[in-house]
Amino acid sequence: MRSILVVNPKGGCGKTTIATNLATYYSVWDTSTALVDLDPQQSSMDWLRVRPDSENHIQGFNGLRGKIYPNEGTERVIYDAPARTDSAKVAKLIKLVDVVIIPVLPSAIDMRVAAAFVADMVTRVRANNAHAIIGVVANRAQKNYHSYKALLNFLKAMDVPFVGVLRNSQNYIKAADTGVGIFEMPYNEVDKDMQEWKPIIQWIEGKRILK
Ligand SMILES: Nc1ncnc2c1ncn2[C@@H]1O[C@H](COP(=O)(O)OP(=O)(O)OP(=O)(O)O)[C@@H](O)[C@H]1O
Ligand SMILES: [Mg+2]
Repeated sequence: MRSILVVNPKGGCGKTTIATNLATYYSVWDTSTALVDLDPQQSSMDWLRVRPDSENHIQGFNGLRGKIYPNEGTERVIYDAPARTDSAKVAKLIKLVDVVIIPVLPSAIDMRVAAAFVADMVTRVRANNAHAIIGVVANRAQKNYHSYKALLNFLKAMDVPFVGVLRNSQNYIKAADTGVGIFEMPYNEVDKDMQEWKPIIQWIEGKRILK
């Protein structure tokens, strides 16, 4: 089993978008997947509730209700953290997870919050002798914008890998409304978005692409 935590204290940076879309990536490949919602708002679970029966099943858990019991044979577990999560709040989880994804919006305010948080997470992983890999995903990025270049400079200065860039795309809004992920939408509409996930998934999987 491989488990992935999506976390950043900044609200609205794309944690739920990344957690839910990643879950659909695995589910379309028939990988047994669980989505654990640690947010009192339960947005990931709301998304699962409107998920069409015709799509592959994703197990959903309210992670605030104590221990979770994924089905036997579950291959991927994805944790969606709430805003205002500091590294102390996820200290226990850090020891258990294999991958930590930190989505960052390319804005000065978001980058400042992320800088402190990334440094904190790196320290905490090391202090616990945990094995989790930590990476940053730039979300809603416009490559030709000044803010994107500032984000690249910010990441260069940090000691964490920059694993991918997701553009601002209406496909994520549609997917959120309808309980699907971009991997389940018509290819001709989402091919650009799907391409952007390739390096992210390769990194999550330790440079192995599933199947
Ligand atoms: N790449 C993107 N393109 C377009 N819209 C996006 C993208 N990423 C996220 N959004 C939209 O931005 C909003 C916030 O995203 P999301 O809910 O994933 O953030 P979050 O970090 O989970 O927020 P919270 O901290 O409140 O849990 C949502 O409406 C989502 O659909
Ligand atoms: Mg969320």
